[in-house]
Amino acid sequence: MEKKSVYERKEREEDIYSFWLRNANERQVLEKALDDRFREWYKKTDSSPLRIIDMGCGRGSAAIKLLNILKRRGISYQYTGIDPSPNQISMFKVNMRGRPNVRAYCSTLEEFTSKDSFDIAFVVHSLYYVQNMTESLKQILALSKNAIIVHHGERGINEVHKRFKPHVRKGPHIISTHEDVTKALDKLEIRYAKRVYPTKTKTASCNDPKNSEGRNMIKFFLEQPTLPESTIEQVSKYFAKRKLDYLTHDMGLIITK
Ligand SMILES: C[S@@+](CC[C@H](N)C(=O)[O-])C[C@H]1O[C@@H](n2cnc3c(N)ncnc32)[C@H](O)[C@@H]1O
Repeated sequence: MEKKSVYERKEREEDIYSFWLRNANERQVLEKALDDRFREWYKKTDSSPLRIIDMGCGRGSAAIKLLNILKRRGISYQYTGIDPSPNQISMFKVNMRGRPNVRAYCSTLEEFTSKDSFDIAFVVHSLYYVQNMTESLKQILALSKNAIIVHHGERGINEVHKRFKPHVRKGPHIISTHEDVTKALDKLEIRYAKRVYPTKTKTASCNDPKNSEGRNMIKFFLEQPTLPESTIEQVSKYFAKRKLDYLTHDMGLIITK
């Protein structure tokens, strides 16, 4: 199995993750949902900067949405992003250029330690990659007062994962939903509010196994930077049979209390 993840990049090529980002409207849905639920996650009563730790920050595409909200509301912040992918961290630094109150470190969330504490942990689609969901949530909430967690639901990528299970990258939580996150929170007796938002991802390109955009989307769905031609054809056939040019993808947004 190829060791590289879909978040790394081959020389002179885009990473596979870029293809999903530009075809999905999830980030817009996320910004609206975070804005609507502002009072659930913003609990400060003084004017000191909001201390945020973004665990699995990637290139900062979700971070930018959260920072947009803080900017509109005139809230000052200290933002720390961590991610184990050197490629994502270097893109994060470029995307955050000009913001002196943002720092970034290359680390998994399991390995990250800090003498600082945080008001909010922002954990967007990174819990698929941890070894132990319960221990990771415990660790997140030891560092931070509250957590905003985004994890996908039953519809969307999860359906593709279940249909093509043997071809999906191996990992303890790669195939999981927000239900697995809330089960772990229940076990830890952590209170939360969860809502599920339907989002749309354009998948017309996946209907054609020769379309390079579609091929990369299929690689993203299975979390494999390289796939045998026969697998691409099989997944493409599945998309073509649906006779739809988009995938409805559920986004679970969990905010701890
Ligand atoms: C789907 S991306 C999400 C990136 C970012 N949160 C966003 O939404 O824009 C998942 C990220 O999790 C990171 N990741 C993988 N294993 C991780 C771990 N053990 N701890 C923290 N992040 C991890 C990946 O490198 C990747 O950047």
